Amino acid sequence: MTVFAHISDLHLGPVPFPAAWPWRLKPVLGWINWARQPGSHDGALVGRAAAAVHAAEPDHVVVTGDLIELGLDREWQAAHAALTRFGAPAQVSWGPGNHDLYTTEASVRSRGAMADWLPPVAATGDLRDHFPRLDLVGDAALVTLCSGKPTWLFSAEGELGAAQLGRLAAVLTGLDRQRFLPVIALHHPPHAPGLSRLKRLRDAPALLDLLARHRCPVVLHGHLHKASRAEWSRDGHTVAMIGAASASATGRHGDDPASFNLVTISRGAEGFDWQVEARLVA
Ligand SMILES: [Fe+2]
Ligand SMILES: [Fe+2]
Repeated sequence: MTVFAHISDLHLGPVPFPAAWPWRLKPVLGWINWARQPGSHDGALVGRAAAAVHAAEPDHVVVTGDLIELGLDREWQAAHAALTRFGAPAQVSWGPGNHDLYTTEASVRSRGAMADWLPPVAATGDLRDHFPRLDLVGDAALVTLCSGKPTWLFSAEGELGAAQLGRLAAVLTGLDRQRFLPVIALHHPPHAPGLSRLKRLRDAPALLDLLARHRCPVVLHGHLHKASRAEWSRDGHTVAMIGAASASATGRHGDDPASFNLVTISRGAEGFDWQVEARLVA
């Protein structure tokens, strides 16, 4: 049996005013947006979530993005400290979200602060070049993607990019499916009925094509701030989209209250089986 703890959307605060970029509209508006919703996230819940995750003794932890809000250095220091609380970097995967890549400087700043969680690659300008990250854990192959990409002012969209999708195809093609069940993790859900276009994954159709072609059964995602499940089917194959709530949400502004998911994968006579249990962070 293999157990993943799935955490998402820490949105660590307090968010410092972007005094270094007072002329930059996006981080300033982002700060105002954060300040207009006081109490929607509580950092103390992240500590309690980490304690609950440790108590569950998972084999691996996956954090599906939005660690922070704007990308200031102090936020990255907090993100490093927070991820460390969930375990050693080799046992913790991070799939960056839209808030992790909020500005055009984000790739450079986050790479400097979060190198412990990034598979090494040759010098690059794009954080997505580090992904997919592949972790073979027990009966599962956890494939973590980066859907965060700097976007225009009012967009919370994500985009994997053709290069990352190509590497994902190679990873899935090379996987020993007799030994490992593929589990895909990323911030933006590739299928989320009713989601605004301003929050979508731009190249979701290409990702869904790959998931169908390689018969991937499950996607772990964040972004919605809800403990959710949606299914997408093609050619007789169904992919379950499992959303984790924000692990720091108080529930005061419409988000689900803080929780995380435990994903259990087991192997029986009929093949692989998997289940999800959401655990509230009290
Ligand atoms: Fe978020
Ligand atoms: Fe997000």
